[in-house]
Amino acid sequence: MDKTNRKPLIAGNWKMNKLASEALGFWSQLRQALKLTPEVEGALCVPFPLIPAMQAARGDCPIRIGAQDVSSHEAGAYTGEVSAAMLADLGVAYGIVGHSERRTYHGETDALVNQKLLALLRADITPILCVGESLEQRDGGQTLDFVESQVRNGLKDVPEAERSRVIVAYEPIWAIGTGRTATAEQAQEVCGHIRAVLGELFGAETARHIRVLYGGSMNGKNAASLLAKPDIDGGLIGGASLKPLEFADIIGAANEG
Ligand code: PGA
Repeated sequence: MDKTNRKPLIAGNWKMNKLASEALGFWSQLRQALKLTPEVEGALCVPFPLIPAMQAARGDCPIRIGAQDVSSHEAGAYTGEVSAAMLADLGVAYGIVGHSERRTYHGETDALVNQKLLALLRADITPILCVGESLEQRDGGQTLDFVESQVRNGLKDVPEAERSRVIVAYEPIWAIGTGRTATAEQAQEVCGHIRAVLGELFGAETARHIRVLYGGSMNGKNAASLLAKPDIDGGLIGGASLKPLEFADIIGAANEG
C-alpha cells in the first residue's frame, strides 16, 4: 500500500527511567548523532516530572516531547492525576494511552483508555493508542480479534475532524522488553489488519492517513526491516530509546525507508 500519505514517526518511551539532570547529556549525544530529515517525525515520551527539563534541553531539536499517560478527567479533585490541559500547557505534543504496562499493572480498561484518548484530543495533543496481545492469546489464535476489539473500543467517539491525527501502536506484549521482536511479517499482518479496521471505522481514505506503529524490542538492527513493511509507519521504542546513539540509529533507518 502507498505510504506517501503518512510521515513515519519514531517515538521513544522512556517508561520510569532517567532523571531530569540526565536530560542535557542525553540531548547533546542525540544531537551529535541525529540525522532527522523533514520526512520523519521524532518524539520522546518521558515521565511527567521530566517534561519541563526535556523541553528546555531540546532547544531547536525537532524531536518533540510526549507524555506516557494522562487523566481521563478535565480538572478537580483527582489526587495524583495529571490533566491533558496541564500537558498541553507544557508544550507536550503526543500522549501514549493504553500501554500494556498500564493495562496490566493499573487495571486500565478499554473504556478508560478511550476516555484518556478523548481527553488528549480535546487538549490538542496527538494520542498514541497502544494495543497488543499476550503470548497466550497469540498461541490461542486470538491475536487479530483481540487487537481489533482494542482498536474499536479505544477509538470510540473520536470526532470526525480528529480521526486522521490519531496514531495506533501495535505492541505485542510478548515482544515488549523481552528482546523477542515480532518478525516483520507478524508485525505487518497485525498492522495491516489494524488499518483494515480503521477503514471500517472511519473510511478507507482516513485510514490511509492514520499512522500505525510497531513496538516491542525494536532496535537499530531490526528497525529497517520492520519499517519497510507497507502498513508499519514508525516505531514505539522502549529500551533502545534510553540510549541516544541507538535511538538515532532507528531514526536513521526511518530516514532511509
Ligand atoms: P521495548 O518497549 O522497546 O523496550 O520492548 C516498547 C514499549 O513498551 O513501548
